[in-house]
Amino acid sequence: MQSALKADGITVRFGGVTAVDNVSLTLRAGEILGLIGPNGAGKTTLFNALTGFVPAEAGTVTLFGRDVSRLPPFKRAREGCGRTFQTEHPFEELTVLENVLVPAFLTERRRAAAERLAMDVLEQVGLADRYDQPAMDLNLARRRRLELARALAVKPRVLFLDEIMAGLNPPSLREMISFVAGLRDKGLAILMVEHIMEAIIELSDHVIVMASGAKIAEGPPREVMDNERVIQAYLGTD
Ligand SMILES: Nc1ncnc2c1ncn2[C@@H]1O[C@H](COP(=O)(O)OP(=O)(O)OP(=O)(O)O)[C@@H](O)[C@H]1O
Ligand SMILES: [Mg+2]
Repeated sequence: MQSALKADGITVRFGGVTAVDNVSLTLRAGEILGLIGPNGAGKTTLFNALTGFVPAEAGTVTLFGRDVSRLPPFKRAREGCGRTFQTEHPFEELTVLENVLVPAFLTERRRAAAERLAMDVLEQVGLADRYDQPAMDLNLARRRRLELARALAVKPRVLFLDEIMAGLNPPSLREMISFVAGLRDKGLAILMVEHIMEAIIELSDHVIVMASGAKIAEGPPREVMDNERVIQAYLGTD
Protein backbone atom coordinates (compact mmCIF):
# COMPACT_ATOMS: atom_id res chain seq x y z
CA MET A 1 0.00 0.00 0.00
CA GLN A 2 1.18 3.54 -0.75
CA SER A 3 2.35 5.44 2.31
CA ALA A 4 0.29 8.40 3.49
CA LEU A 5 3.36 10.22 4.74
CA LYS A 6 6.97 9.52 3.95
CA ALA A 7 9.92 11.53 5.19
CA ASP A 8 13.47 10.86 4.12
CA GLY A 9 16.58 12.23 5.79
CA ILE A 10 15.00 15.30 7.39
CA THR A 11 17.60 17.60 8.91
CA VAL A 12 16.91 20.93 10.60
CA ARG A 13 19.59 23.18 12.06
CA PHE A 14 19.18 26.32 14.17
CA GLY A 15 22.56 28.02 13.99
CA GLY A 16 24.96 25.50 15.51
CA VAL A 17 22.23 23.23 16.93
CA THR A 18 21.10 20.24 14.88
CA ALA A 19 17.53 20.02 16.13
CA VAL A 20 16.59 17.19 13.74
CA ASP A 21 19.33 14.94 12.45
CA ASN A 22 18.65 12.86 9.33
CA VAL A 23 15.27 11.43 10.45
CA SER A 24 13.19 9.22 8.15
CA LEU A 25 9.75 7.75 8.74
CA THR A 26 6.82 6.15 6.96
CA LEU A 27 3.16 6.22 7.94
CA ARG A 28 0.21 4.47 6.30
CA ALA A 29 -3.50 5.34 6.31
CA GLY A 30 -5.27 3.91 9.35
CA GLU A 31 -2.04 3.77 11.37
CA ILE A 32 -0.76 5.70 14.36
CA LEU A 33 2.93 6.41 14.64
CA GLY A 34 3.99 7.50 18.13
CA LEU A 35 6.91 9.89 18.44
CA ILE A 36 8.55 10.06 21.85
CA GLY A 37 11.77 11.34 23.37
CA PRO A 38 13.00 13.56 26.20
CA ASN A 39 12.40 17.33 26.25
CA GLY A 40 14.36 19.07 23.53
CA ALA A 41 14.76 15.86 21.49
CA GLY A 42 13.49 17.61 18.34
CA LYS A 43 9.97 16.16 18.11
CA THR A 44 8.16 19.47 17.59
CA THR A 45 10.85 20.67 15.21
CA LEU A 46 10.39 17.49 13.14
CA PHE A 47 6.62 18.20 13.07
CA ASN A 48 7.33 21.75 11.96
CA ALA A 49 9.60 20.52 9.18
CA LEU A 50 7.05 17.94 7.98
CA THR A 51 4.20 20.46 7.96
CA GLY A 52 6.29 23.26 6.41
CA PHE A 53 6.57 25.62 9.38
CA VAL A 54 10.37 25.45 9.49
CA PRO A 55 12.61 24.86 6.48
CA ALA A 56 14.48 21.56 6.39
CA GLU A 57 18.11 21.87 5.43
CA ALA A 58 17.97 18.41 3.89
CA GLY A 59 15.42 15.71 3.23
CA THR A 60 12.13 15.18 1.42
CA VAL A 61 8.52 14.88 2.53
CA THR A 62 5.90 13.10 0.42
CA LEU A 63 2.16 12.94 1.04
CA PHE A 64 0.42 10.08 -0.78
CA GLY A 65 3.32 9.92 -3.19
CA ARG A 66 3.40 13.65 -3.90
CA ASP A 67 6.56 15.55 -3.01
CA VAL A 68 5.49 18.48 -0.80
CA SER A 69 8.99 19.34 0.46
CA ARG A 70 8.89 22.80 -1.04
CA LEU A 71 5.28 23.72 -0.28
CA PRO A 72 4.40 26.31 2.39
CA PRO A 73 2.22 25.22 5.35
CA PHE A 74 -1.14 26.31 3.87
CA LYS A 75 -0.51 24.33 0.69
CA ARG A 76 0.50 21.25 2.68
CA ALA A 77 -2.74 21.73 4.64
CA ARG A 78 -4.66 21.68 1.35
CA GLU A 79 -2.82 18.49 0.45
CA GLY A 80 -4.29 16.93 3.58
CA CYS A 81 -1.89 17.84 6.39
CA GLY A 82 -3.75 18.75 9.59
CA ARG A 83 -1.84 19.70 12.72
CA THR A 84 -2.21 20.84 16.29
CA PHE A 85 0.27 23.09 18.06
CA GLN A 86 1.99 22.07 21.30
CA THR A 87 1.08 25.42 22.81
CA GLU A 88 -2.41 25.98 21.54
CA HIS A 89 -2.99 29.58 20.58
CA PRO A 90 -6.60 30.08 19.55
CA PHE A 91 -7.78 33.59 18.76
CA GLU A 92 -8.96 34.21 22.32
CA GLU A 93 -11.49 36.91 21.48
CA LEU A 94 -13.01 35.02 18.56
CA THR A 95 -15.75 32.48 19.04
CA VAL A 96 -15.19 28.74 18.90
CA LEU A 97 -16.85 28.65 15.46
CA GLU A 98 -14.77 31.55 14.11
CA ASN A 99 -11.59 29.82 15.30
CA VAL A 100 -12.48 26.73 13.27
CA LEU A 101 -13.62 28.78 10.28
CA VAL A 102 -10.10 30.11 9.78
CA PRO A 103 -8.64 26.72 8.76
CA ALA A 104 -11.96 25.64 7.17
CA PHE A 105 -11.52 28.43 4.61
CA LEU A 106 -8.32 26.72 3.43
CA THR A 107 -10.39 23.98 1.82
CA GLU A 108 -13.83 25.60 1.44
CA ARG A 109 -13.95 28.97 -0.26
CA ARG A 110 -17.63 29.68 0.21
CA ARG A 111 -18.75 30.92 3.60
CA ALA A 112 -21.76 28.58 3.85
CA ALA A 113 -19.69 25.49 3.02
CA ALA A 114 -16.90 26.55 5.40
CA GLU A 115 -19.47 27.05 8.18
CA ARG A 116 -20.98 23.64 7.53
CA LEU A 117 -17.54 22.06 7.66
CA ALA A 118 -16.63 23.96 10.85
CA MET A 119 -19.88 23.00 12.59
CA ASP A 120 -19.40 19.41 11.48
CA VAL A 121 -15.95 19.14 13.10
CA LEU A 122 -17.22 20.95 16.22
CA GLU A 123 -19.93 18.29 16.40
CA GLN A 124 -17.27 15.57 16.11
CA VAL A 125 -15.17 16.97 18.97
CA GLY A 126 -18.22 17.72 21.13
CA LEU A 127 -18.02 21.52 21.06
CA ALA A 128 -20.97 22.30 18.81
CA ASP A 129 -23.09 23.62 21.69
CA ARG A 130 -20.35 26.15 22.53
CA TYR A 131 -19.89 27.47 18.99
CA ASP A 132 -20.65 31.08 19.93
CA GLN A 133 -18.49 31.29 23.06
CA PRO A 134 -15.17 33.09 22.91
CA ALA A 135 -12.22 30.68 22.95
CA MET A 136 -10.89 32.25 26.15
CA ASP A 137 -13.89 30.86 28.06
CA LEU A 138 -12.92 27.22 27.40
CA ASN A 139 -11.21 25.06 30.02
CA LEU A 140 -8.04 23.09 29.15
CA ALA A 141 -9.79 19.92 27.92
CA ARG A 142 -12.07 21.97 25.67
CA ARG A 143 -9.20 24.10 24.39
CA ARG A 144 -7.50 20.86 23.32
CA ARG A 145 -10.65 19.76 21.54
CA LEU A 146 -10.82 23.14 19.82
CA GLU A 147 -7.21 22.68 18.74
CA LEU A 148 -8.16 19.27 17.36
CA ALA A 149 -11.19 20.75 15.58
CA ARG A 150 -8.94 23.33 13.91
CA ALA A 151 -6.67 20.53 12.68
CA LEU A 152 -9.68 18.53 11.41
CA ALA A 153 -11.13 21.56 9.63
CA VAL A 154 -8.63 21.19 6.78
CA LYS A 155 -10.11 17.73 6.02
CA PRO A 156 -6.79 16.05 6.76
CA ARG A 157 -5.67 12.67 5.55
CA VAL A 158 -2.58 12.90 7.73
CA LEU A 159 -2.96 14.31 11.23
CA PHE A 160 -0.08 15.64 13.35
CA LEU A 161 -0.88 15.75 17.07
CA ASP A 162 1.66 17.47 19.33
CA GLU A 163 1.03 16.58 22.99
CA ILE A 164 -2.74 17.07 22.87
CA MET A 165 -3.11 14.96 26.01
CA ALA A 166 -0.63 16.77 28.29
CA GLY A 167 -2.18 17.94 31.55
CA LEU A 168 -5.61 16.36 31.00
CA ASN A 169 -7.34 14.77 33.99
CA PRO A 170 -7.97 10.99 33.76
CA PRO A 171 -11.54 11.15 32.37
CA SER A 172 -10.56 13.74 29.72
CA LEU A 173 -7.49 11.66 28.87
CA ARG A 174 -9.65 8.56 28.33
CA GLU A 175 -12.00 10.60 26.10
CA MET A 176 -9.10 11.91 24.05
CA ILE A 177 -7.58 8.43 23.64
CA SER A 178 -10.86 7.00 22.30
CA PHE A 179 -11.38 10.02 20.08
CA VAL A 180 -7.95 9.55 18.49
CA ALA A 181 -8.60 5.80 18.08
CA GLY A 182 -11.85 6.72 16.29
CA LEU A 183 -10.01 8.98 13.86
CA ARG A 184 -7.54 6.18 13.13
CA ASP A 185 -10.45 3.78 12.53
CA LYS A 186 -11.87 6.22 9.97
CA GLY A 187 -8.64 5.80 8.01
CA LEU A 188 -6.59 8.83 9.01
CA ALA A 189 -2.84 8.46 9.26
CA ILE A 190 -1.77 9.92 12.60
CA LEU A 191 1.64 11.04 13.80
CA MET A 192 1.42 11.62 17.53
CA VAL A 193 3.96 13.22 19.87
CA GLU A 194 3.08 12.35 23.44
CA HIS A 195 4.80 12.07 26.79
CA ILE A 196 1.89 10.11 28.28
CA MET A 197 3.01 6.51 27.86
CA GLU A 198 -0.46 5.11 28.51
CA ALA A 199 -1.62 6.84 25.33
CA ILE A 200 1.46 5.82 23.34
CA ILE A 201 1.18 2.15 24.32
CA GLU A 202 -2.53 1.98 23.73
CA LEU A 203 -2.66 3.83 20.43
CA SER A 204 0.61 3.42 18.54
CA ASP A 205 1.13 0.77 15.91
CA HIS A 206 4.76 1.77 15.78
CA VAL A 207 6.94 4.09 17.87
CA ILE A 208 9.94 6.21 16.97
CA VAL A 209 12.21 7.49 19.74
CA MET A 210 14.24 10.65 19.26
CA ALA A 211 17.07 12.00 21.40
CA SER A 212 19.26 15.01 20.61
CA GLY A 213 17.67 15.31 17.16
CA ALA A 214 18.33 11.75 16.04
CA LYS A 215 16.18 8.65 15.81
CA ILE A 216 17.63 6.29 18.45
CA ALA A 217 15.09 3.46 18.35
CA GLU A 218 11.89 2.31 16.67
CA GLY A 219 9.51 -0.60 16.77
CA PRO A 220 6.35 -1.83 18.49
CA PRO A 221 5.56 0.29 21.59
CA ARG A 222 6.36 -2.20 24.35
CA GLU A 223 9.51 -3.41 22.68
CA VAL A 224 10.78 0.16 22.28
CA MET A 225 10.13 1.03 25.93
CA ASP A 226 12.29 -1.89 27.04
CA ASN A 227 15.16 -0.77 24.81
CA GLU A 228 18.27 0.06 26.82
CA ARG A 229 19.13 3.19 24.79
CA VAL A 230 15.63 4.52 25.25
CA ILE A 231 15.72 4.03 29.01
CA GLN A 232 19.10 5.75 29.13
CA ALA A 233 17.90 8.66 27.00
CA TYR A 234 15.05 9.26 29.43
CA LEU A 235 16.90 8.66 32.66
CA GLY A 236 20.36 9.81 31.61
CA THR A 237 21.81 6.78 33.41
CA ASP A 238 21.64 3.00 33.33
N1 LIG B 1 12.99 28.32 16.67
C1 LIG B 1 14.08 27.79 17.25
N2 LIG B 1 15.27 28.45 17.25
C2 LIG B 1 16.36 27.91 17.82
N3 LIG B 1 16.37 26.72 18.43
C3 LIG B 1 15.22 26.02 18.47
C4 LIG B 1 14.02 26.52 17.89
N4 LIG B 1 13.03 25.60 18.09
C5 LIG B 1 13.61 24.59 18.77
N5 LIG B 1 14.91 24.83 18.99
C6 LIG B 1 15.86 23.91 19.65
O1 LIG B 1 15.78 22.67 18.97
C7 LIG B 1 15.85 21.59 19.88
C8 LIG B 1 14.63 20.71 19.75
O2 LIG B 1 13.48 21.37 20.27
P1 LIG B 1 11.99 20.80 20.11
O3 LIG B 1 11.07 21.84 20.60
O4 LIG B 1 11.81 20.32 18.73
O5 LIG B 1 12.01 19.56 21.10
P2 LIG B 1 10.81 18.63 21.58
O6 LIG B 1 11.28 17.23 21.41
O7 LIG B 1 9.54 19.00 20.93
O8 LIG B 1 10.76 18.95 23.14
P3 LIG B 1 9.49 18.98 24.17
O9 LIG B 1 9.24 17.54 24.55
O10 LIG B 1 10.00 19.77 25.32
O11 LIG B 1 8.35 19.61 23.47
C9 LIG B 1 16.04 22.22 21.26
O12 LIG B 1 17.42 22.27 21.52
C10 LIG B 1 15.45 23.59 21.09
O13 LIG B 1 16.04 24.50 22.00
MG1 LIG C 1 7.74 19.64 21.60
